[in-house]
Amino acid sequence: MLNTKEEFLEIYNKHIKREGAEQLLKFLENSDFFVAPASTRRHSSYEGGLCSHSILAYKRFVKLLTMEYGENYNEVISDESVAIIGLLHDLCKVNFYKVDYRNVKENGNWVQKPYYTVDDTLPYGHGEKSVYMISGFMKLTREEAMAINWHMGGFDSRFMGGSNTLQIAYENYPTALIFHTADMWTTYFDEKTDNI
Ligand SMILES: [Fe+2]
Ligand SMILES: [Fe+2]
Repeated sequence: MLNTKEEFLEIYNKHIKREGAEQLLKFLENSDFFVAPASTRRHSSYEGGLCSHSILAYKRFVKLLTMEYGENYNEVISDESVAIIGLLHDLCKVNFYKVDYRNVKENGNWVQKPYYTVDDTLPYGHGEKSVYMISGFMKLTREEAMAINWHMGGFDSRFMGGSNTLQIAYENYPTALIFHTADMWTTYFDEKTDNI
């Protein structure tokens, strides 16, 4: 049984061979990627949750691609692209959370309890921020950039603000829609969600 960091590295090193991949991995190692949560209170809001969410999203992506295109889905999208999209789509959450403390009453006594809060050190959006960050290390294909940029689907703030670019992107890049579905599926089916 692999731990999440080992599993991430195994998938990453097996599939991502592009120029810049090593430097990007070094950046991740020196960031909080492997210990950060995936959210403050909702899905995978625990230490290492971001890494674990990324692996689960990758696996769901593989399953949905197989469902749609069959076992030879890599005739449609390469294994390298699938790994890049799945593992790196939430890089925007790197150096994004911090631990804070609040006073909670336990058995009549006030105690300090840690909790995750947002401290966005690079306020550049969500999917678009991941694309920007990855692009600082390696060149993305158009298909990868579309899938990562639009992975929030109808929850994307640009879409909620009235932009219809999302629909045009999904019409032209169906793997982007499949990845959005994989990300949602992972969040609600594969991960623990606190009922707060
Ligand atoms: Fe995301
Ligand atoms: Fe995600």
